[in-house]
Amino acid sequence: MDLSSAQRSVLELLGAVSSEDLPALLDWMRTTRDFDEFIHNNNDIILKNIAEDLRNCLPLETMLPSEQIAIQKIKQHPEPVIHIDAFLYDDDFIDYLCDNGKMSRNYCMVCGSHQTTPLGFISHSFSPLELKFIYQHVLPDLSGKVLVDVGSRLGPVLFAGYLYSSALQLHGVEMNQDFCQLQEMIIAKYKFTDRIKVHHANICTQASLLQNADVVIMNNVFEYFLDRSEQARAWEYISHNVKKKGTLLVTVPSLKESLSNLQVAIPLNEWVEEVQLNYDVYTEKDIDREALEQIHLYKIL
Ligand SMILES: C[S@@+](CC[C@H](N)C(=O)[O-])C[C@H]1O[C@@H](n2cnc3c(N)ncnc32)[C@H](O)[C@@H]1O
Repeated sequence: MDLSSAQRSVLELLGAVSSEDLPALLDWMRTTRDFDEFIHNNNDIILKNIAEDLRNCLPLETMLPSEQIAIQKIKQHPEPVIHIDAFLYDDDFIDYLCDNGKMSRNYCMVCGSHQTTPLGFISHSFSPLELKFIYQHVLPDLSGKVLVDVGSRLGPVLFAGYLYSSALQLHGVEMNQDFCQLQEMIIAKYKFTDRIKVHHANICTQASLLQNADVVIMNNVFEYFLDRSEQARAWEYISHNVKKKGTLLVTVPSLKESLSNLQVAIPLNEWVEEVQLNYDVYTEKDIDREALEQIHLYKIL
């Protein structure tokens, strides 16, 4: 049923209710939790529609000519890897592309062509499941809170935050202008302007945003996009500015792993304490538990 027929049916139904029961029915419609399931499902659908809109604007590998460093770094990987954005493409979609010869999950170890051994997949975005895990099982109620996504790229952390949390403000900071424009397009189309703001900037110029944040999200932000000395400088900047006691920091991978190959002097045990997460919240067989286990939560001391 389309929207206008559904609206007509609801009005007809209300018109048929006896006048003495109508106030109670309207009150129930305003306050009941019985609609929650429809609202949750609707949020999943909105997120899927956003992914479809973005897919239509981007090449399959979801990398742009303006990201030369990331393209070079992916090429220099010891084994062949391809970039597939987990927010835009789920496993079923990848299977469909493979079945239709548009993609391969394998490569030939001799000539490098995509034939025999499993290819590595890299995603520069969280998948819809990881986003739900973060907002429904990692973070507490975010009413009145300010969240900052460092390196917001296509914006999935912000859009999911709008749909799955009550965060007061969701800020994305992204240094690539093309991605900022895509995020702005989605924010305008889906009318997210009241709670989402995207900043086209290097995070190392955003001290006050970081200092005031209640939640900071960092999904593989620097490794593929900055050289080692810039990564080290960016992490130092983060640790100097994300200082407010109790601020929550969500990282992929762990802080220890992110900092392990960098020349940084960040005393982790004085800065943060790790909060243990329960990765067993989903019982379905095809859940990518390994991906969930890459998500870490810290509290600033
Ligand atoms: C792996 S993507 C993260 C995507 C998104 N946060 C998510 O989880 O779906 C990292 C993004 O960070 C951006 N980035 C890297 N270094 C940055 C910096 N210093 N300031 C702002 N953005 C940065 C890159 O351009 C890239 O789009």
